[in-house]
Amino acid sequence: MNILLLGSGGREHTLAWKLSQSPRLTSLFIAPGNAGTATIGTNLPITVTDFHAIGEACHRHKINMVIVGPEDPLVYGIHDFFLANPNLRSIPVIGPTKQAAMLEGSKDFAKAFLKKYNIPTARYETFTKETLSKGISFLHTLVPPYVLKADGLAAGKGVVICPELDEAITELTSMLSDAKFGAASSKVVIEEFLDGIELSAFVITDGIHYRIFPEAKDYKKIGVGDTGPNTGGMGSVSPVPFAQGELLENVERQVIRPTLEGLSAEGITYQGFIFFGLMNVRGVPYVIEYNCRLGDPETESVLPRIQGDFVELCQAVADGSLDQVSMDLDPRYTASVMLVAEGYPGSYEKGKEITGIDQVSGSFVFHAGTKQADGRIVTNGGRVLAVTSFGDTMEMALKKSYMNAEKIQFEGKYYRRDIGFDL
Ligand code: AMP
Ligand code: GLY
Repeated sequence: MNILLLGSGGREHTLAWKLSQSPRLTSLFIAPGNAGTATIGTNLPITVTDFHAIGEACHRHKINMVIVGPEDPLVYGIHDFFLANPNLRSIPVIGPTKQAAMLEGSKDFAKAFLKKYNIPTARYETFTKETLSKGISFLHTLVPPYVLKADGLAAGKGVVICPELDEAITELTSMLSDAKFGAASSKVVIEEFLDGIELSAFVITDGIHYRIFPEAKDYKKIGVGDTGPNTGGMGSVSPVPFAQGELLENVERQVIRPTLEGLSAEGITYQGFIFFGLMNVRGVPYVIEYNCRLGDPETESVLPRIQGDFVELCQAVADGSLDQVSMDLDPRYTASVMLVAEGYPGSYEKGKEITGIDQVSGSFVFHAGTKQADGRIVTNGGRVLAVTSFGDTMEMALKKSYMNAEKIQFEGKYYRRDIGFDL
């Protein structure tokens, strides 16, 4: 089978690595990919939202399945584009339709869905420019800190947490009246602040059946001890020591099952991955957000723990036969440490030569922001590489990743040295 994988981050290099282990795979294409995916398959210079070019590439390379990494193509309707095109309809797209991707594409949709199906989530209300004054009154009824969320996709920047009321009022006004996040903030969700520890859970579903992937914890802040600005993610570990037994049962019973039942009650057939961003509040898993894709850098820790044929798993999503496929998990721990460019998540330079990857032993190196240039590998993004290791304990996995992270060099390399510190 020929597969086209969309995306260019560490998640996609990990997916490509996993897919490439399947005897069912003939050729793998990645659009646009990075220097890591180029060692596994063929990179195509196509952006993930150029649906016409993606359709053409499917013809040219006789693609039998498209697997979507990031959210944008899903929220913009790539699955629907394939279904609406007679020449593409027979190619399964692993990733939900536009309507189903609203779970990530609209915070207001997601919150209304969570409320309707009685899934634990923070109390909230949604406001528009016209109801700004009501929004300000609502803020007065809450206790600090205040959580404001732009409704639409905002490249991970649409959530603002304000410690003070006046700051929250200014922020709400700038989101609604001054379109701070463009059309994405034409609606704003204001919700109660939840105090707890975060956890990422994942399922793969064919619309009827589901399989639960290993859970993970992601470290979003740039600085040691979870300080400083948010990033795309600085590292991850799996399994998560506090998320065992009863909590995981609650995640399945209170979150996963009602979500899938709710989708089905809404007449939405969801085929693909669902990422549940959860907050453990005294044993109850509150949903902070849904994503219609896998997480990054969670995928770098989660996929190595999944044993078996990932192509078979994706094929079963397309066929509606996930109940027929077994999925075994590696019981060991994985830990991923993200190496990032100096300045990230603010402005940073690209094009720095990366050396020492060949010195790494006993860890995987998953490329994120890298590309090939004149036979060298150079940085091409803020998050550059993820170093992932197995260990019998989380500490052993981390130790191996840190040892190998030292061996990789590029100008301005930075990484957090305290991944897992809170566990
Ligand atoms: P999101 O983009 O929805 O993942 O939100 C970004 C981050 O904001 C989350 O990972 C949480 O750390 C934080 N966050 C979002 N909603 C809440 C909430 N209701 N209470 C506390 N923290 C939150
Ligand atoms: N690691 C969080 C995300 O992928 O959104």
